[in-house]
Amino acid sequence: MEKFVRPETMARITTQELADAFIAEQVAEIRAQVGDKKVLLALSGGVDSSVVAALLIKAIGKQLVCVHVNHGLMRKGESEQVIEVFGKELDANLIYVDATDRFLDLLAGVAEPEKKRKIIGAEFIKVFDEEASKLEGISFLAQGTIYPDILESDGVKAHHNVGGLPEDMEFSLVEPVKLLYKDEVRVVGEALGLPHAMVYRQPFPGPGLGVRCLGAITRDRLHALREADAILREEFDKNGLAGKVWQYFIAVPDFKSVGVRDGKRYEGWPAIIRAVNTTDAMSATIEEIPYALLHHITDRITHEVEGINRVLLDLTPKPIGTIEWE
Ligand code: XMP
Repeated sequence: MEKFVRPETMARITTQELADAFIAEQVAEIRAQVGDKKVLLALSGGVDSSVVAALLIKAIGKQLVCVHVNHGLMRKGESEQVIEVFGKELDANLIYVDATDRFLDLLAGVAEPEKKRKIIGAEFIKVFDEEASKLEGISFLAQGTIYPDILESDGVKAHHNVGGLPEDMEFSLVEPVKLLYKDEVRVVGEALGLPHAMVYRQPFPGPGLGVRCLGAITRDRLHALREADAILREEFDKNGLAGKVWQYFIAVPDFKSVGVRDGKRYEGWPAIIRAVNTTDAMSATIEEIPYALLHHITDRITHEVEGINRVLLDLTPKPIGTIEWE
């Protein structure tokens, strides 16, 4: 990654006005850089790639080709939101690839966390590459690189770049938010009219639910995890915790315990709630969740999600526990 230095004179973008000025400047720069050529973007639906997509759509419209790869490890509703916002509302040139079977077939029986990450990262590049090679006349590759990515590209978090793209692709790069901090990217995203929930969503790892469906992923357990996670997110949203807690999710381990349902023995997996606060993800503290809400979430997950028969709360700060379980 090339090193760019943010000029000391550059004001922190905190208001709609500053965001609008940044957008106008970038739109002009993008047009000057790209001309009438085509630009390709891997659009995950995360904050950074979404904001880059919206900026490029504003600048060059249909000259931008977005590819959204659904690796089958997205949270509930995520790919649908990408299609709704970018395909429909913003009328983008969007290619949607449902690669669920490819990823899950490759991951079948693989229990080792780093191996799972590598498979997901490598397959992502392969799928994206295949899509790119079907397209003609692409000259540029857009990326949602942000300033912390540049500052942190010295190794510590190398494994977090899973889902990044190969360096040998023969495109020139378009990286319009590369000098921005995360909070600025969000302000720019809102100024561009992206939905608040998309712009302020919690961080989600590249390998997605793959690092939360512990051990060897099976489709039924992955489905249970996705449904339980959706309930947790819905309840955090409704109860004002979504904006207060930095990251919150469910992990589902690959063992069952005995339970009872409708008077019969009912074996199921436990759903583990993890809700942490942090500023830099290097250390994290545990957020207090009201007991009444925990009971309600437990009740909903155990009644609504097939295969889950217990709900547990992870009270471990980082260190000693990492944020993710894998
Ligand atoms: P840990 O588990 O290391 O997580 O305490 C710190 C932050 O990084 C995220 N994370 C990942 N992000 N690919 C990513 O893109 C990964 O493989 C990965 N592993 C962890 C995690 O969600 C948390 O925000």
